[in-house]
Amino acid sequence: MATLLTTEYLPIGDPSCDLAREQLARAGRRIRDGGLVVFPTETVYGLGGDATRAESARRIYAAKGRPSDNPLIIHIADPQDAEPYAVTCDTYDRLARAFMPGPLTVILPRKPTIPTETTGGLETVAVRCPSHPIARALIRAAGTPIAAPSANLSGKPSPTCARHVMDDMDGRVDIIIDGGDCEIGLESTIVAISGEDNVTLLRPGAITYDALCMVIGKVQIADAVTEQLKEGERVLSPGMKYRHYAPDSPVVLLDGAPDAVLQYLMHEQQRCRCAILCYDEELSALQTSGEPLLFPVGARDDLVTQAHTLFTLLRHADRALPDIIYAHLPPMDGLGLALYNRMIRAAAHTIKRV
Ligand code: TXA
Ligand code: MG
Repeated sequence: MATLLTTEYLPIGDPSCDLAREQLARAGRRIRDGGLVVFPTETVYGLGGDATRAESARRIYAAKGRPSDNPLIIHIADPQDAEPYAVTCDTYDRLARAFMPGPLTVILPRKPTIPTETTGGLETVAVRCPSHPIARALIRAAGTPIAAPSANLSGKPSPTCARHVMDDMDGRVDIIIDGGDCEIGLESTIVAISGEDNVTLLRPGAITYDALCMVIGKVQIADAVTEQLKEGERVLSPGMKYRHYAPDSPVVLLDGAPDAVLQYLMHEQQRCRCAILCYDEELSALQTSGEPLLFPVGARDDLVTQAHTLFTLLRHADRALPDIIYAHLPPMDGLGLALYNRMIRAAAHTIKRV
């Protein structure tokens, strides 16, 4: 357990106003001095420290309770700022032109400016240029790239608002910047570049497989995106081997025709105390007398809203201490692949066909 700190809470609305600029300058100095600052991004909140200092990486791992072989993403303010820290290439430039600033992380060979403590011992480094104005202003104020994993305790869903961060990180970090709700709600898409133009999708996100293919041509999808790892299997991204996004209650994903799934859920409501991440269209049918544990994720076809609400609802559902949490198995195309990837992990690959 990290030493208990007094965590300063900093709400920031418009990062360009004078007060915010002053606060961000102070938060940036804190990072440069080896401190930890939680900040909003367009995906989820990040737990940031100086990416060039081994000691900052050690503090991040301790604050999260995260194994130190799980590497950190370094956040830069502009795509061209990757140069001093990573060996870039033409494929990086093409991805950067198409998707940065934005929710894309690219894995490249590391330069010695980034210590292996930050990269979990790897010779590669994950680079991301977020689009959130507070994140970019903080990186500029720090004057150094910011290493940041999602700001949750290891094994909890990634935080998409400052309330979740406080639940997990109060007393473990120096500053929490509250910039409101994260727009996307799921972590960035991660790709690895090997050779000159071999691109592999390691973690799906709001930059979809189809969007990547439009820019790069051929993109491979790592097995671990959709499959369960076999015992002892080597993974391209160390984070894939850890249990993730896991509420304390068991999660079961339901797959089947809409009517069959709805009938099954109504039956289960009679049988046990279940929490249901349901579609808006199902709300009225599932509304029972008593206290139905319903968490509407959005309309069936509205994957953007489902991505935005998923982690919050998993936290809420879990807090209700149900016997079981039911959710729908998402489709595997478009943004659905990112939802699928997060939800099969939350459910430890438990899928029930009805
Ligand atoms: O949207 C995001 O990416 C958020 C925000 C804060 O930027 N960050 C985030 O970080 O999700 P984290 O640490 O929770 O997830 C990063 C994933 C981990 O699974 C890690 O194993 C993988 O990226 N990763 C980092 N560096 C890597 C590398 N050099 N090679 C392979 N995988 C890497
Ligand atoms: Mg994470």
